[in-house]
Amino acid sequence: MLTSNLETTNLLSAVEKQVTSTSGSQTFSQDWLAFSDRFNKFAPKLLEELGHLYGHKEQYKAFLVDLILVAYQSFQIRPADLKALDKQREMHPQWFQSKKMLGGVCYIDLFAGDLRGLQAQIPYFKELGLTYLHLMPPYKCPVPNSDGGYAVSSYREVSPSLGTMADLREFAAALRKEGISLVLDFIFNHTSDEHEWAIGALAGKPQYDDFYYIFPDRKMPDAYDNTLREIFPDAHPGSFSQLADGRWVWTTFNSFQWDLNYSNPAVFKAMAGEMLAIANIGAEFLRMDAVAFVWKQLGTTCENLPQAHGLIRAFSALVRIAAPAMLFKSEAIVHPDDVVKYISPEECQVAYNPLQMALLWNTLATREVNLLQQALEERHNLHPDTAWVNYVRSHDDIGWTFADEDAIKFGINGYDHRQFLNRFYVNRFDGSFARGVPFQDNPATGDCRISGTCASLAGVSQGDHLAVKRILLLHSVVLSSGGIPLIYMGDEVGTLNDSNYVDDVAKADDSRWVHRSKRVKLLYDSRHDQSTVAGQIYAGLQQMIVQRSTCEAFEGGQLTGFRTGNASVLGYQRGTDGSKVLVLANFSEFEQYCSPEIFSAMPSDVNDLLGNSLVTLPLRQGLTLMAYQVVWLNVSI
Ligand code: GLC
Ligand code: GLC
Repeated sequence: MLTSNLETTNLLSAVEKQVTSTSGSQTFSQDWLAFSDRFNKFAPKLLEELGHLYGHKEQYKAFLVDLILVAYQSFQIRPADLKALDKQREMHPQWFQSKKMLGGVCYIDLFAGDLRGLQAQIPYFKELGLTYLHLMPPYKCPVPNSDGGYAVSSYREVSPSLGTMADLREFAAALRKEGISLVLDFIFNHTSDEHEWAIGALAGKPQYDDFYYIFPDRKMPDAYDNTLREIFPDAHPGSFSQLADGRWVWTTFNSFQWDLNYSNPAVFKAMAGEMLAIANIGAEFLRMDAVAFVWKQLGTTCENLPQAHGLIRAFSALVRIAAPAMLFKSEAIVHPDDVVKYISPEECQVAYNPLQMALLWNTLATREVNLLQQALEERHNLHPDTAWVNYVRSHDDIGWTFADEDAIKFGINGYDHRQFLNRFYVNRFDGSFARGVPFQDNPATGDCRISGTCASLAGVSQGDHLAVKRILLLHSVVLSSGGIPLIYMGDEVGTLNDSNYVDDVAKADDSRWVHRSKRVKLLYDSRHDQSTVAGQIYAGLQQMIVQRSTCEAFEGGQLTGFRTGNASVLGYQRGTDGSKVLVLANFSEFEQYCSPEIFSAMPSDVNDLLGNSLVTLPLRQGLTLMAYQVVWLNVSI
């Protein structure tokens, strides 16, 4: 749908009229000028997307005026330092492609008790080299059932046990001062059942009519369930939960997480207000939670529908207008073809890379790099204004989200292979080094995912002497393949599974808590002592982090595959002629040899950025890699 300039101008003057009636003339105010400038630039996109979603609704025009008013009002109260950051980021839109970018993620309570405690950890975050910190959701949520903060009762309040909104703002500013960008979640697929909208909807308040999907009986839930995938089968079969009064409500995840109804424009407007309020706290990346599920349509899987993309692009356009320093990060843990559809300069500029994550663990189990090599060669490169967030572990489970079509090219049957991986990682496979725990084991479909910390999955639990090497190997790919590497706090010092969660009724039936343990002081205290496992992991990571941040080749996200001719050795190149690095990674516990022919286009003697700088490697003799060894060869010409 094309939008004429006239329409844009009319909208803007309708909004101005409304603001003027309460606070005097806007026309020449700084805020109005900045806002209208950006509005004129991004309104066509915003209106195009909203037109598709809601253009047919009654009162569409009034909805638009209200929405833009919400955007302007939140821009007006946006703190001055964030407005300055807006301008700066507009001038350097590729800032997040820097080789210095490094992410971390933690729970506030588990890592440091509360926000004040976390603020005291900023020197540690700097020591590690972080430039990005994702706090697990700090918002008010039901107690004790909160899905780790992913059931939000108010986006405008901080959970009292963590601190106040003022603490969160202060924390954001303190991070920003140290060059660390705050990442917060936008949990927009659902709210908790204790959110005032949910309470209002349940009580039949007309303004919350159609905020959620509530049905009088099983007729519609059954009709939808026919084509839906079960996401949390342990919590409830299907995607609906029964209310005390007998009605049914859509709950993709837990029964206390009610899915919002975005076919209702009032929901879009209300959530846009919450989103911009989060932006004004100082979030520089907004983690778009559970993007795949936000639009529903009968007869479909209700995942990854085109309208879900339109919705996110509309939110994104609003952000460009009212809080442009903030970028979106998508959390789509789905088929790789679907994952990339969320990534574009106009939708989510960065995205979790669940395929790389899953295939790293796959490769460690099989010792064959085939699938990972293929994924890097065929599915890694993105639009240059966007980036992957590469990670080894997150707060969630590991799902085997590779494409069956990709696997079959190597004669691998996806279903059988997933069964093998599940057995391998939950220690039901002879000789496995991993000690994971099943998550949402679904005997009906054979589906199962894996919980466990990086260290426990890599073999530290049994004192396996190769475990540290495995951990460093996985992180080496995340740190060198291009995009923003993300460390799950605790992994950098080898935190093990913590089974105490089973004693907590609110956590007992969710095995993901096994890898959500408190910060283990002892491990952090020994991080500089290389006689400890924590110290060895920490030192190995530090070396890679420092090398990466100083080597031009690691800028940006583009990569070129490099075939090593050895089934256990992964290969790829980063950078261009000025600065070029060849990464080789041995995924087996045995020595592996790469023969000289593969290096014919390389300089004859090279340095390994991860090795002794005085030793040059004569590539004309081929190269032998030790068990799980990784080299970052400087092959600049
Ligand atoms: C996201 C979160 C996960 C949560 C789910 C429901 O996937 O990462 O922890 O359970 O959304 O909000
Ligand atoms: C499903 C969802 C994903 C969520 C995960 C939590 O895989 O697709 O969004 O993070 O469940 O386990």
